Amino acid sequence: MTETIATDYLVLGSGISGLYFALNAAEHGKVTIVTKRKVRDSNTNWAQGGIAAVLGEDDSVDDHVADTLVVGDGLCDEEVVRITIAEGIGHVHRLVELGTRFAREDDGSFELTREGGHNKRRVAHYQDITGAEIQRALHEAVEKHPNISILEEHIAIDLLSRAKFGSETGCFGAFVLDNKSGNVKAIYAKATILATGGAGKVYVYTSNPDVATGDGIAMAYRIGANVSNMEFVQFHPTVLFHPHAKSFLISEALRGEGGILKLRDGSTFMENYHPLKSLGPRDVVARAIDNELKKSGEPSVHLDMTHLDDDFVRERFPNIARRCAELGIDITKTPIPVVPAAHYQCGGIEVDHNGQTSVPHLFAIGEVAWTGLHGACRLASNSLLEGLVFASRAADVVKDINDPLPQGEAQWLSGDATDSDDAIVVSLNWDEIRRLMWSYVGIVRSNKRLERARRRIELLRNEIREYYWDFKVSADMIELRNLALVAHLIIESASRRRESRGLHYTLDFPEKSDTVENTVLHKSDGPSPR
Ligand code: SIN
Repeated sequence: MTETIATDYLVLGSGISGLYFALNAAEHGKVTIVTKRKVRDSNTNWAQGGIAAVLGEDDSVDDHVADTLVVGDGLCDEEVVRITIAEGIGHVHRLVELGTRFAREDDGSFELTREGGHNKRRVAHYQDITGAEIQRALHEAVEKHPNISILEEHIAIDLLSRAKFGSETGCFGAFVLDNKSGNVKAIYAKATILATGGAGKVYVYTSNPDVATGDGIAMAYRIGANVSNMEFVQFHPTVLFHPHAKSFLISEALRGEGGILKLRDGSTFMENYHPLKSLGPRDVVARAIDNELKKSGEPSVHLDMTHLDDDFVRERFPNIARRCAELGIDITKTPIPVVPAAHYQCGGIEVDHNGQTSVPHLFAIGEVAWTGLHGACRLASNSLLEGLVFASRAADVVKDINDPLPQGEAQWLSGDATDSDDAIVVSLNWDEIRRLMWSYVGIVRSNKRLERARRRIELLRNEIREYYWDFKVSADMIELRNLALVAHLIIESASRRRESRGLHYTLDFPEKSDTVENTVLHKSDGPSPR
């Protein structure tokens, strides 16, 4: 029998959006947070640069909106941009009230840095570990709250659909696998909130932690939610290039403080690509580096900080300086070898202004969601802000959901065979998906490459499908199945966009089209959900 747990609000994921939602919603009911490893295993915890907000005296909501719209390349929803930027300021102050530390000027005001695409200094930060600091403060607040409970080492398998109980469609919780015991539980909830983050692991080179396997997007698509603009994958221009450095980001704030991108022979190149040079928008900088690497055949370019004051660099970027030093690079003396890598999923589950998806009682907040803020390319450090604003808005509306939960037990049914080949199937398929996505659906795309990717992902998904339903469910198989579906959604969305815009660049349609459209996928006319 499947164990059943009832709660008011089920939150899947424990980054900034999930924790902030929990704190707000706990004022109205019981919250259960499910996270597949430890609470700290989130993209938020890895965010280095900071949180963009109108906090400086020379800045304004209009200026921040303007920069966001330019970088978003015609696909931002301006109303959402205004809402996020205007409301976000108050939430940054709330983070401070909750105990988050930010770097301060001598007069106590926020010390603000700059990142690519921003025409003003507006990124509040704590050293170069802003995300970890926010995560710490929120986690401490959540742990103290009597209405919030946390289930670590539990991974959601699939969402529970009311349709199975003969009533209207909608979601009422999730099946969850307890990683330690291997038992599957059904968690019933009045509202289910996906805060599962992005899908960087779909690419072989990424700045994301191992947990970023697109679980929320895959589950939402399977239950029937619309998923939008998945072709817009942001490649961060500067991830450390070193055989022993796994997914280590070199924050854009280094360029914000004067770091210069150079070729390995010491010459600069960004002046040939954008007036803001090394601080141009990410899509432009990542494509420029990709182009230079293809021309030169070199494995990386350099980010040079050696002309800046040594003490300033060490004090401002202690975490990056320490990690590079461990690998034998003194960033005050030697340029840092860097390459682009998958960093952020700009598309996601389509939501309204309150994080409500197209499936009743199912919400999505943070990177997993597509709100319309980021358009075709995300302005640096706007995402933590979006997480706060939509978490708070969603918490405000879920309190009005009072529909009774379905009567009856949700039974988890799957194969119960175990197989010693499990690990091989997972690791081979995992590796193949990530490499094919990098080669065929990366920074520069074409019809031929996308077609090759489509053929391969269909074969891989067939193999995964057979295996998945015959064998006992495991966390690795759940992630692989989700990763494969998300890869398929990216390929499909990229194939449907017959233009180059923002982060999507294809050799077959290098120009922007006059019509501006979102790519919306639904299981009725998109890739198979299973
Ligand atoms: C960075 O520190 O460069 C990342 C900031 C972001 O992705 O918003």
